Amino acid sequence: NSNSAILMEIQTMRVTKLCNTKEIVTVNNMFPGPVVYAQEDDRIIIKVTNQSPYNATIHWHGVRQRLSCWFDGPSYITQCPIQPGQAFTYEFTMFQQKGTFFWHAHVSWLRGTVYGALIVYPKTGVPYPFKYPYEEHIIILGEYWLQDVVQLERQVIASGGPPPPANAFTINGHPGPNYNCSGNDVYKIDVVPGKTYLLRLINAGLNMENFFSIANHKLTIVEADAEYTKPFTTTRVMLGPGQTINVLVTADQPIGKYSMAMGPYMSAQGVAFQNISAIAYLQYLGALPNSLSLPAQSKTPQNNCQGVNNGVMAASMNNISFVKPNISVLEAFYKKIDGFYTDDFPGAPLKFYDFVNGAPNNIPNNTNAANGTRVKVLEYGSRVQIILQDTGTLTTENHPIHLHGYSFYVIGYGTGNYNPQTANFNLVDPPYMNTIGVPVGGWAAIRFTADNPGVWFLHCHIEIHLSWGLGTVLIVKNGIGELERLPHPPADLPRC
Ligand code: C2O
Repeated sequence: NSNSAILMEIQTMRVTKLCNTKEIVTVNNMFPGPVVYAQEDDRIIIKVTNQSPYNATIHWHGVRQRLSCWFDGPSYITQCPIQPGQAFTYEFTMFQQKGTFFWHAHVSWLRGTVYGALIVYPKTGVPYPFKYPYEEHIIILGEYWLQDVVQLERQVIASGGPPPPANAFTINGHPGPNYNCSGNDVYKIDVVPGKTYLLRLINAGLNMENFFSIANHKLTIVEADAEYTKPFTTTRVMLGPGQTINVLVTADQPIGKYSMAMGPYMSAQGVAFQNISAIAYLQYLGALPNSLSLPAQSKTPQNNCQGVNNGVMAASMNNISFVKPNISVLEAFYKKIDGFYTDDFPGAPLKFYDFVNGAPNNIPNNTNAANGTRVKVLEYGSRVQIILQDTGTLTTENHPIHLHGYSFYVIGYGTGNYNPQTANFNLVDPPYMNTIGVPVGGWAAIRFTADNPGVWFLHCHIEIHLSWGLGTVLIVKNGIGELERLPHPPADLPRC
């Protein structure tokens, strides 16, 4: 199926959820949007037309975009948005990559409704490194708002306060029976007793880390961020926004109907997990339709979200709140147009000495941040180590920090402040990821070789944090060899 162009039409669609009918922006009249299927090393060509009233782009989350930065998708980083009525064709290769990915809009909060799965199979004849599942299912965790998500972002930023919680959590777009008018708006998987299933979990939610569990069933993790892992068996998994995890589930329980639940790590209202989670069903062949088992654990750890005393909420990296420029950083860099960014992103926090053990217990003395579009330029082939230190004063969630254009080795993480004297690095078999949940009040160390030229966004995948500026840009310069240089921009690259 390589080389065949896929059509994606971004458009508005009328949906009725939670007793409310409204228009949402989706792709090809589907919610979630269509699944893109491919095989490792396939060339993917997708023509995106924007028939919605909003500016849009599509980002292919987790795809390393080897020498194809122009098609990465984050607005004002690698491209101007596709304006209403315009089109742009994304073209890239799944170079040495396979597994569960997803695509999502990368403008404002549009990815609240514009998202779908990207599933890449191994090459023909290459098996999975685990027992072949009887069937596979995609499970996309989402957040649903009754309000227009683009307006919601504007309002939240203007308010200076935290975002409201979603009106519902969803599994493949369905809230399930915990919500009003949603008794029939439920996702269901039929299973055959004794068979093993592969579930491809994707957290497409905007602002929440979410748990996923199935009543009475074990989950065996076999893949995270589209890389195989050593199998690990558990009863529930947690995914930060932007994370994907594959699990195996065996239908080894008495014939029945079991609930699959997903919900946030914390609940601002102190409401039990059971009542604020999306529910879907895992129904055994031969089960009575009215039997139902709920997940064994009905509560998840709860935390209270502290508010600011005065001022507005903000987020930054090394005390810089990232501001998107008016043309894409990639275009400004490639065409050497001055004035849209500066290459003086500080190599360390401006107030490094002010570090104390971070959120939520100890608050740094100085949390001032300056606004700017300040980037870090790297020579081709540089070996990069980044220490991600959470110094947040408010967040009780981990920060899922996502790097475009690369996967990185997570060589260490811990609580408190990073201390080079005591930090223990795993240099033997570290996980290879594209999104790392930096522990709240803790740190993570990542390493990669900067061998993919281009302009790459490094940001928190919690959308409100990104709106507040929790991100920066890494520019990786061209190398000398022919396969070390970014090609020319495509002719249909959108203009701002
Ligand atoms: Cu999933 Cu910058 O994105």
